[in-house]
Amino acid sequence: MSFLKRLQTTLLSNRKTVTKNGANYDVKHVRVYRWDPEKGEEPKLVTYPIPLKECGPMVLDALFKIKNEVDSTFVFRRSCREGICGSCAMNIDGKNRLACLTPLAGPKQTVTVYPLPYMYVIKDLIVDLSNFYAQHRAVKPWLIRSTPPGGKEGLQSKESRLKLDGLYECILCASCSTSCPSYWWNPEKYLGPAALLQAYRWIIDSRDEGTMERLKFLDDDYKLYRCHSIGNCTRTCPKHLDPQAAISKIKALVESSPNKVMSITGKKAAAAHSS
Ligand code: SF4
Ligand code: FES
Repeated sequence: MSFLKRLQTTLLSNRKTVTKNGANYDVKHVRVYRWDPEKGEEPKLVTYPIPLKECGPMVLDALFKIKNEVDSTFVFRRSCREGICGSCAMNIDGKNRLACLTPLAGPKQTVTVYPLPYMYVIKDLIVDLSNFYAQHRAVKPWLIRSTPPGGKEGLQSKESRLKLDGLYECILCASCSTSCPSYWWNPEKYLGPAALLQAYRWIIDSRDEGTMERLKFLDDDYKLYRCHSIGNCTRTCPKHLDPQAAISKIKALVESSPNKVMSITGKKAAAAHSS
């Protein structure tokens, strides 16, 4: 049996049957955070009963059903519907997940959906990601080269290319950063696991010539060192990446880089001079 067939069979067999008015319904109660700043009301949780047999298998399908059939003013981000674009990240039953990859069926009768935590809400499930994207931009997520490859492609060995596995797959969904307590308390100053994983992806690219510039930029009490290795980022990532490990490797590189040695030597010299 193919993987998709097995997945479909599992999802269908997990659907809970309840009896109502003598008829059989497979119903999931989808409890959703709703807030419209233009209405001037407090945020609230609204519960929508979703008959599973009339809905696709994922939480995102239920959100579509609510929007298309119950309340068209309900808003949420989505695009690819297959775990590639990262736009449908939200907090589902207490964990940051992609709604398009999270099955609706399961042992619980109710599923609760909030926006990504500790972010400014624009409306309903949509949060303001401006700061998150600015942090991504700040790590210069592109090749820095001063020597042009002379009209040819910048080639890489297979071994060098393999080092990018586990990094390039990041879809910038923000699940990791918004699950990190260090990021909650210092979202403006700490770059967060998503931006740091991207920073590492370019630092270890064999074609990149900006390593020292990148490490110098990251050598900062807040940008990098607000990470206290809590590990929520790695536990949360829906693509099974390991931002915590990437951050640890950046720290090791910063510690051993000539920039760091020079800055420590400089500080020591200044301290000796002032004493
Ligand atoms: S590392 Fe994982 S959780 Fe973080 S932004 Fe990338 S895909 Fe999302
Ligand atoms: S809609 Fe693209 S990742 Fe979910």
